[in-house]
Amino acid sequence: MVKPNIDFTDALEQLLARVWQVRGERLDSAHIRKTREAVVDVRTIYRNKGEKLKGEKIRRYSQSIDFKQRRYRAGYIAAFGERHAYLTYLHLKKIENENNGVIPEPRNGELTVTVIGAGAALELFGLCYYYNEERARVKKLKLNFIERISDWQDDRDTMIDKIIKKAFRNLRTFRNNINMNLVQENITLLSQQYEKLSDSDIIIIYNVLNEITSNPLSYQKKVWKNVEYILKICDKRVLILLMEPSARYTRPRVQPIIERLSMVTKHIISSNQEEFTFNEEPLKIQLENNNDGLNVRLFDTPIDRHKPTFETSLKRTHFACFRDPLSPISKFDAERQFRKSLRARDERQRFRKSKDQTSFYDIDSSFGSQKATKKFLNEL
Ligand SMILES: C[S@@+](CC[C@H](N)C(=O)[O-])C[C@H]1O[C@@H](n2cnc3c(N)ncnc32)[C@H](O)[C@@H]1O
Repeated sequence: MVKPNIDFTDALEQLLARVWQVRGERLDSAHIRKTREAVVDVRTIYRNKGEKLKGEKIRRYSQSIDFKQRRYRAGYIAAFGERHAYLTYLHLKKIENENNGVIPEPRNGELTVTVIGAGAALELFGLCYYYNEERARVKKLKLNFIERISDWQDDRDTMIDKIIKKAFRNLRTFRNNINMNLVQENITLLSQQYEKLSDSDIIIIYNVLNEITSNPLSYQKKVWKNVEYILKICDKRVLILLMEPSARYTRPRVQPIIERLSMVTKHIISSNQEEFTFNEEPLKIQLENNNDGLNVRLFDTPIDRHKPTFETSLKRTHFACFRDPLSPISKFDAERQFRKSLRARDERQRFRKSKDQTSFYDIDSSFGSQKATKKFLNEL
C-alpha cells in the first residue's frame, strides 16, 4: 500500500487551528491545553450519553454534544479525527473482499457522495484514499453534505482544502451544503435538492444516528423518512455505508434504521460490534518520535491533570448495502397516481399532499420542481 501524499496528523493540526481560529497552522500551548480538556469532555459525554450514572439521580450528561461550541468541535476532531478518517477506507476494503462489484466505479473520474451528519466530513479522507490509492480514479468529487449545525461548514471546507486536496492532488470538489435537521421531515427541502441527491453513488451515515435519541420514537421515523426519500430518488445503484459506535445505548438509536435499510436494499456486510485497529501502515496511528508531534503534545505530555489516553482502535456497529433504482410500482400505477395528483392540483390550483403518499415507492407530490417530477416520470 502507498502512503498518502501528506502527513495526516500534521494536517489535522491545521484543521484544529482553524476550528479554534488561531493564527497559523500550529496550536500554541494554551490551545493544546484547551483541546486536551475538550477531548476529555467529549469522550466523557460519549461514554455516558443516555445513561444514568451509578448513584446519580439526575442525568448529568447531555444526550448529544452541542457542536455549535468550537471547543466540542475541536475536542471531537482531536479525539476521533484520525480514526474516523481511516474508517471509510477499512469499510470499503471489507466490502471489496466480500463483493467487489458493488463498489461504484467513477464515471469519467466523477463520483457523487452524500454524507448524512457530515460534521467536518472526516470520512472523506478514507474514501478518497480507497479510490485513489493506486492511481487517481476519482478526479471530480461531487459532495452533498447534510448537517444541522452550520458552524461545521468552515471546518469542513478546511478539511477539504487543507487535507483532502493536498493529499489527493488534481482532485476537484463540488460542495453542496444542505442545512437540515434529520429529526424533522424535510421532504420539501430535499426535493429542492433533487438533481444533486439523485445522482448519489454513495451515501455515508457515520457516527450520527447515535446522536439522535430514540425517545420520542418519532425521531427515528423522521430520520428514516428523510433517508428513504433520498434512496427512492437515486437514479442509479447506490452504495450505503453505515458505521456507528457499538456502545449499548446506541442500539435503539441505530438498529431501527439498519432494519429499515435491510427491508429496501441488498445486504453486503454487517456486524453488531467489530474492533477496527489502526496499527499498520498506511493507516497506522501512532505517537510521533519527537516531542513536537501533535499526538505527543495532545496525548503524551503531562502538562496538566487532563492527559487524555491515546487510542488506536475503535469498536463499531457497521452495515453496508446497496440499492438498485428498480421501482416495483408498475408504470401504469405510477401514471395513475400522477394523474390523480394532477387532478388534485387542478382542483386546488396547487399540488396537495395526499394521505396515501407515505409508502416507499409512491409518487409524492412533494417531489418538488416540475422538472424533477418530469424526470422521474420519464424514467419509469
Ligand atoms: C459525531 S459527528 C460525525 C461527523 C462525521 N460523520 C464523522 O464520522 O466524523 C455527528 C454529526 O451529526 C450531526 N447531527 C446530529 N444530529 C443531527 C440531526 N438530527 N440532523 C442533522 N445532523 C445531525 C452533528 O451535528 C454532527 O456534526
